[in-house]
Amino acid sequence: MSADSSQTILEVDGLKVYFPIISGLMRKVRGQVRAVDGVSFDLRVGETLALVGESGCGKTTTGRAILQAVQPTGGRITFMTREGDRVSTISAARDVQSIIRQEIQLIFQDPFASLNPRMTIFDIVADPLMANRLSRGRELEERVTEMLRLVGLSPDYMRRYPHAFSGGQRQRIGIARALIMNPRLLIADEPVSALDVSVQSQILNLMQDLQEQLDLTYLFISHDLSVVQYISHRVAVMYVGKIVEIAPTDDIFSAPKHPYTQALLSSVPIPDPEVRTRGGALEGEVADPANPPSGCYFHPRCPMAEEICRETEPPFAEVSPGHFSRCHFYADLDLPGVPE
Ligand SMILES: Nc1ncnc2c1ncn2[C@@H]1O[C@H](COP(=O)(O)OP(=O)(O)OP(=O)(O)O)[C@@H](O)[C@H]1O
Ligand SMILES: [Mg+2]
Repeated sequence: MSADSSQTILEVDGLKVYFPIISGLMRKVRGQVRAVDGVSFDLRVGETLALVGESGCGKTTTGRAILQAVQPTGGRITFMTREGDRVSTISAARDVQSIIRQEIQLIFQDPFASLNPRMTIFDIVADPLMANRLSRGRELEERVTEMLRLVGLSPDYMRRYPHAFSGGQRQRIGIARALIMNPRLLIADEPVSALDVSVQSQILNLMQDLQEQLDLTYLFISHDLSVVQYISHRVAVMYVGKIVEIAPTDDIFSAPKHPYTQALLSSVPIPDPEVRTRGGALEGEVADPANPPSGCYFHPRCPMAEEICRETEPPFAEVSPGHFSRCHFYADLDLPGVPE
């Protein structure tokens, strides 16, 4: 095993998640929503990979498949446990499943909806340990105290209920709950989207500090490219169930090699009040994952589309080391990107 691959924590290979469309009295299957349609990527220990794209492109479903919350239609998900075992999350034995469930945790999107209003902060944060009968009594209280301190909350408030806390504090509580099982991989599904902009950066900073302290790996799901720019090492851009571009964050922002990435970038707001957007924003509707277009799925919205784009699906081509694009014209594209 090379030094590089020994550092890999997760491999997603050709992942497909299709949902049947059922209708009529006879409950016939009328078709399939190809929510995730052949997604492959890997994650290295300690890195943050952002998964971005418009609503409905399959980000959450990808995360749910990794968390074993939805059964994949095809493909493989391989996880490297703390003990160094390579295990398939899809076909692992029951005892291995419980290790995977411990080591991969979720940070929820909405800190208002995801915390039970009738549970105290102590009960919320302690819940994963209590549910698995892993700790109790004084030891449990010490562990909750430690977790609250870690996320910047005073343990004095642990007998209070969620309504007493602000959005940012609630998201800290959610992070404390995710961390109490001592996970190695966190799936953060839009973790700051429900928060005020001023609070977003505090939570992003906290996540970065925790990553360094605890050697955490993040899959950071967001529809907002400006949020992922500072936290992620690499970015994967999804469109209608497929990754259309993946690259180190700097490359995605300075030299995108897919017209869809460029369109997403041009809708990122500019801090300059004189200029609102960079123009060229996305037009048209997202393609229907139950009935995608021929060829390149992006061609009906793409300003550069030509005959080949309507006819042939582009291969996932390597533009430069670690930079892949699913565009027939990746080699000819000179897209502006975003200045730092
Ligand atoms: N349980 C389900 N049954 C049927 N269709 C589903 C189910 N879950 C998701 N889908 C469909 O799969 C596609 C991908 O959904 P998903 O929630 O993964 O997108 P997303 O990228 O997370 O979007 P958003 O930015 O809105 O959260 C959508 O067309 C959605 O309607
Ligand atoms: Mg989602």
